[in-house]
Amino acid sequence: KVHLDYPTTTVSKAGDLKVGQPVAFTYPDDSSPCTLVKTGRETQGGIGPDGDIVAYSNLCTHMGCPVSYSAEERTFKCPCHFSVFDSELNGQMVSGQATENLPRILLSYRDSDDSIEAVGVEGLIYGRQANIL
Ligand code: FES
Repeated sequence: KVHLDYPTTTVSKAGDLKVGQPVAFTYPDDSSPCTLVKTGRETQGGIGPDGDIVAYSNLCTHMGCPVSYSAEERTFKCPCHFSVFDSELNGQMVSGQATENLPRILLSYRDSDDSIEAVGVEGLIYGRQANIL
């Protein structure tokens, strides 16, 4: 594996997040839209005081359309060809045309000031040969 030097980017304070209300950000650079969500229940790989904060790339792995978060189903849905990705199972594709999981944004939580930082990406962002350009 190629080693990539990911930036550390502050995304939000955990206390500012509301269950089911996604927060848009970009990572690892401005041309890569991502979504931070507080799922409201302890989630695989989730961080923060409740272990329920996760983030994913917004770009569908099929053809790069922007996915949107469904709080009811806790999934990301792609409007183009209806791929569905599970926000609680590492971005796993549930159905549709995509063949790869939604890339996960690796987060870290800092107790001292309640901040959530993006620190890396798991999976390849759509349209890139490497996550860091
Ligand atoms: Fe998302 Fe095709 S671009 S399913």
